[in-house]
Formats: sequence, structure tokens, C-alpha cells
Amino acid sequence: NADEGDSGTFADRMLMEGDPFVLIEAMIIAGLATGATAGYVYIRSEYPRAISQMKAAIGVMEAAGWLGDSVGGSGRAFRLAVRRGAGAYICGEESSMLNSIEGLRGTVRVKPPIPAIAGLFGEPTVINNVLTLASVPLILDRGAAFYKDFGVGRSHGTQPFQLAGNVARGGLVEKAFGVTIRELIEDFGGGTASGRPFRTAQLGGPLGAYVSADMLDLPMDYEELALRQAMVGHGGIVVFDDTIDMAEMARFAFEFCEIESCGKCTPCRVGAVRGRETVEKILRGESVAANIALIEDLCELMRDGSLCAMGGLTPMPVLSAIRLFPEDFDRAAPVAAE
Ligand SMILES: Cc1cc2nc3c(=O)[nH]c(=O)nc-3n(C[C@H](O)[C@H](O)[C@H](O)COP(=O)(O)O)c2cc1C
Ligand code: SF4
Repeated sequence: NADEGDSGTFADRMLMEGDPFVLIEAMIIAGLATGATAGYVYIRSEYPRAISQMKAAIGVMEAAGWLGDSVGGSGRAFRLAVRRGAGAYICGEESSMLNSIEGLRGTVRVKPPIPAIAGLFGEPTVINNVLTLASVPLILDRGAAFYKDFGVGRSHGTQPFQLAGNVARGGLVEKAFGVTIRELIEDFGGGTASGRPFRTAQLGGPLGAYVSADMLDLPMDYEELALRQAMVGHGGIVVFDDTIDMAEMARFAFEFCEIESCGKCTPCRVGAVRGRETVEKILRGESVAANIALIEDLCELMRDGSLCAMGGLTPMPVLSAIRLFPEDFDRAAPVAAE
């Protein structure tokens, strides 16, 4: 899964452009381990260089006998093909991606059956992110204990964190889990690009939570962030300074869901539209307290009733904005003209 749709993320792209062979090696290992004879790398169309690099590397591996009828002379077949996405965020969701590869519209499949039972063209299918697969050759080479030695608690290994948005030094920093948000944003990122005070960062893509300045010392750790209703996701960190309007960002979260929803289930398809409309009422200062209560209710419904995490996680940025920055939602109603 190289669809990499999350805002502020580029680790998959950098890996495929910089070392496509590690992904190919990992997919061969996955194929041999599961008995699969075909693999697909689904890359977003915005990554033309990654697409050409992967295709060229696949050609090299075929010529060297590591892909084809007999992988490395083992007598076992494994082939790889690149498929280009067409710009839909939802095609990063695994079952939509399967539909897209099959030439169908990218809509979410109802589970069960899970892809491991009936996936691509009805066959059992393993789906993993580029970064997950890319860590496999190292783990096999150096052993699980070596990999496990990095990280904290149950969050083992390393994560390529990606710094983006209003940050002085954007880029990729690979660190063991446990590094704090402050170390990433201040020490590696150099603070905001504007030089204005930091106000918030969105962690883990457009469906991830916002964090406030008093959360900067939290470690990047799956469990710790989950306790604070936030997530690591694909390791993207998008930084904002004190000019950001968090009510606007809550509106944007619903709008993003409205635009990218596959439309299959009602809580997401309709909820996103009603959510955006309700935040717009708050922005106009209309019945603010009642409309915030309505949004909290709607978010509960979207979280519990959506078919996939698109509708299920949209409440995360919305509710974190309301919870951490209530002052931005405290809009006054416009005074009527005499
Ligand atoms: C709306 C939506 C978009 C997603 N986009 C991506 C994506 O761009 N890349 C990705 O690897 N996983 C994405 N996922 C997660 C995949 O469904 C799947 O869980 C993942 O590829 C599994 O890989 P992993 O377990 O190795 O992380 C998305 C999920 C949802 C609900
Ligand atoms: S939550 Fe949204 S994106 Fe996911 S299946 Fe439902 S309508 Fe489609």
C-alpha cells in the first residue's frame, strides 16, 4: 500500500525513490512466506518518480532472477506489478484499494470476509504499508530481539516521522518510538517557520488528532497517544502557529470527509455534510453551545456507525479541536443592523 494519502507524509515516497529494492525484497519474502505468486505495489499518481523507480527496480530484479518463475532458483514463482492510483484518499483504505486494482470504483468492501480470506480477485491477500514491509528484511537479517530493542512499551522499532506544515526544517526523521513531540518539532524541526509561537500540530494525517502546546512532552508511542485520544498513524506531524483558527480546522475535517467519502455508508456520507454545516453555524455564532452538543452527538454516531475509519476517525480532529481549543469555538452572534 503505497497510496500515502495522509497530509504531510512522504516516507513511502522517499523509500521507494531511494531504495526500491528493500520493498521488493520484503514483498518477495511475504510472497514466499504466504505462498502468494503475485504482488502489487499500489502507488499514488502524484508520485511519478517513485512509480518509475519501482518499475525500473522490478526490471533489474527480473533480469537477475529474483522475480519470475523461479525466485533465486528456488523453483517458486513470484511476480510484481505496479498499479497507479487515481487520486482518491479512500483508495488507501485496503478494500477500496483492492477494488481499484481490480478496475472497479474505489469503494469500501463490507467485512467479513477480510482480505486475508477473500481479497484481490477473491484470493487470500496480505496488505501492508510500504514502511511495514520495508522493516521485514532487517528483522530477518538481525533478528526480532534487535528490532525490539528500539522503542518503548509495546511500541517497538523505529518510525520515520515526517515534519511538515509551518515548521522551520521540514523533512523526515527516523527515530525509535518514545521520542517526544517536542524533540521532533523543536530540536529537529527548529520550531515554526514563521517564527511565531507554536499553537498545535496534527499527528497522523487528516483523520488524526490535534495536540496542544502542553502535550509536547508526550512520547510518540501508540499506547500513550491512544490514552490522549490521538494517534501515530503514518508518522506525519503538521505544525501550525498561533494564527490558526481551530474552528476552521474542525470545519475542514468534516469537509475533507465530505469530499473523500466513498459514499457507501450513511454516518459518513451524510454525517460529514451535516457536520460541516453545523460548524459553519458555530462560525456564524448561531446557537453555539447547542451546536457544539450536536457535533459531539454526531461524532459519536460517526465513530460507532461508520463502515470504515474514514467516517470513524473524522471525529478525532474535530473533537480534539473542541476539547483543546474551546476559545476558538466561542463565537459571538453578529449584531443585527438597526
Ligand atoms: C480512509 C483510509 C485511508 C487509508 N490510507 C492509507 C494509505 O494511504 N496508506 C496505507 O498504507 N494505509 C492506509 N490506510 C490503512 C489501510 O487500510 C491498511 O490498514 C494498511 O495499509 C495496512 O498496513 P499496515 O498494517 O502495514 O500499516 C487507510 C485507511 C483508511 C480508512
Ligand atoms: S466510512 Fe465513509 S469512506 Fe468508509 S465506507 Fe462509509 S462512506 Fe465509505
